[in-house]
Amino acid sequence: MNIIQNQSLKNYNTFGIEAKAIAFVSVTSVEELKDILSQNNEIFILGGGSNMLLTQDIQKLVVHINLKGREIVEENNDFTIVKAQAGENWHEFVLWCIDQNFGGIENLSLIPGNVGTTPIQNIGAYGVEIKDTMFSCEALNKKTLAIETFTNAQCKFEYRESVFKNELKDQYIITSVSFKLSKRNHNVSTTYGAIETELQKQNIQNPTLKEVSNAVIAIRQSKLPDPKELGNSGSFFKNPIVSNEIYEKAKALHPEMPHYVVSETHVKVPAGWLIEQAGFKGKRFGDAGVHKNQALVLVNYGTASGAEIVALSKNIQETIATQFGIEIEAEVNII
Ligand code: EPU
Repeated sequence: MNIIQNQSLKNYNTFGIEAKAIAFVSVTSVEELKDILSQNNEIFILGGGSNMLLTQDIQKLVVHINLKGREIVEENNDFTIVKAQAGENWHEFVLWCIDQNFGGIENLSLIPGNVGTTPIQNIGAYGVEIKDTMFSCEALNKKTLAIETFTNAQCKFEYRESVFKNELKDQYIITSVSFKLSKRNHNVSTTYGAIETELQKQNIQNPTLKEVSNAVIAIRQSKLPDPKELGNSGSFFKNPIVSNEIYEKAKALHPEMPHYVVSETHVKVPAGWLIEQAGFKGKRFGDAGVHKNQALVLVNYGTASGAEIVALSKNIQETIATQFGIEIEAEVNII
């Protein structure tokens, strides 16, 4: 195990923020991870670095989860259960599943980050969430150093939420995730507007897994910046879920406001729309900015600090609260 002092984290966070770890280690086995935990009380777990904003140097040992491997653990004629280690790149895993003709996660193509973080915030896009196919996940209990298995139900998934962000926050390190995927009669989900339009453009009637994935990739590439070219963490905010009362008040002033009904008492409002209406889309403040094609995404044009991005996000939150009476919450973890 190689512990590096004063490691720059610029290449380990998709926002491309310059910050340092006083000490850094990359672990490639669960045994190594247990060793580290038994010797260090204070550690910071780093996955793919695609859902965090660094606002300071990290004064703890940063443990980069670099566990690799994927295997079929169970299968029958219709389904397979595939287990991927936490450090596998998510998109590469999706493409590998599509190549094996395993269906269920094709709509989640091109999402940055690693497999291990997907259950934490129940990643989702184009009408599909990880909770729809996640069978179970294994996680290391930081106190007991035992590996525990969580079923789908035990993860308590909700929109961009799970038990690991709430009552079990910071108590577990996810080491692997298993997915139950279809081997035939794939139930492809193309009802999300943009996918349907993309497939129609190409005259595709009964899309294969690969065709759905390609459509999703084309949509994402047209709207979302590639972190390799422009630092970002995907959607910076969650779409707010508000009471009917708050929604009605805002709607009275802004009748064209889109919304999706989530329950009898609550609706979800697209934060991207609110941010665009508030005039922030495409705006730049030094090297911190709001993406020109998708207002939910904050970007780093090069040398923005975490504090500058946070200042921009606060400005956006306050403006939206004043204009619409709606609170929007960061999806990204601010460190
Ligand atoms: N909208 C605007 N202006 C914008 C962006 C969006 O008016 O700049 C409006 C759109 O016109 C549409 C609505 O907002 O009416 C929804 O837009 P879109 O379909 O692009 O999705 P989103 O709600 O903005 C969510 C996810 C994305 C995911 C897309 C597609 C969240 C926080 N974000 O965005 O996830 O790719 O749906 O399913 O739920 C991510 O989490 O990092 C991410 C990119």
